[in-house]
Amino acid sequence: MQQIALAVIGGTGVYNLAKLDDVQTHEVDTRFGRPSGPVRVGTLLGHRVAFLARHGEGHSLPPHKINYRANLAALQQLGAQRVLALNTVGGITEDFGPRVLACPDQIIDYTWGRISTICEEEGTDVVHVDFGHPYTPMLRSKILAAAKVTGVTVHDGGCYGATQGPRLETIAEIARMRHDGCDLVGMTGMPEAALARELGLDYACLAIIANWAAGCGDGEEITMAEVLANVQAASNGLPELVGELEGIIPFYRARLLVKPGLTGWAQVNYGKGASIEGSAEKLEYDLYYIKHRGLVLDLWIILRTLGRVVGFQGV
Ligand code: HPA
Repeated sequence: MQQIALAVIGGTGVYNLAKLDDVQTHEVDTRFGRPSGPVRVGTLLGHRVAFLARHGEGHSLPPHKINYRANLAALQQLGAQRVLALNTVGGITEDFGPRVLACPDQIIDYTWGRISTICEEEGTDVVHVDFGHPYTPMLRSKILAAAKVTGVTVHDGGCYGATQGPRLETIAEIARMRHDGCDLVGMTGMPEAALARELGLDYACLAIIANWAAGCGDGEEITMAEVLANVQAASNGLPELVGELEGIIPFYRARLLVKPGLTGWAQVNYGKGASIEGSAEKLEYDLYYIKHRGLVLDLWIILRTLGRVVGFQGV
């Protein structure tokens, strides 16, 4: 069976993946119980992709009742190593208005009473995973690069505040979250991200902003109709983005196999002092290097590196 390189979890308003063809439906049982619904595995623009609706068929599960552990374990059991989480959210700060897509890089967890670890059961080994960067930086880079290639605008970064729901927040709660540093508010970002890390999955979030959070917009009531209409409008380019993401992944495997020039094409091209980790721009240089690698490019990299070492920036 062809390997599933990417699994997509759809949130509110995203109950299937357009352009997913030749779909096979899997009813999976896991050591954590049953996932939210069947997992659909199919071909998306030539790539093998799995899809699971987080809230179940017909949006039957509220955020606190979702079996996040079973959802992730089911995708892993089917062979997925990477998870793209689509989360419908409200926007708090000014760059995150309705219909914007964002790839957050931080989380604050305000949820309570949810099973938030795979070490819950008595007798299981306790793990303390590193969670400083809650979303897998390399997967974030790939998402941002795929967005660039497909012409889908995605905001790079932001802090996702995960609330308990299912009710929306009060104005005071959102004011507190803004003060805490949150840019986005949603109900399903946690414990999903932490569980993915514990299970050893690559995991990143693509947030679909459906409304201004309480007190951030024009004061009008937030309705489900508004949320769904905005999710639909913002989701148009998603199949292409996901397909492109799949196309980029094999390049990354190749990236690990090649030895770049002395410091690499990305480093010599990237701005001095800039952080290159997690950067879509670095990915573009990497892809360029992979496609054009050879003696001439390696010599050029070495020359430019030496130029930087001796401080002659013009090389
Ligand atoms: N708050 C929490 N979750 C959400 C919101 C919101 O305003 N909009 C969509 N999901």
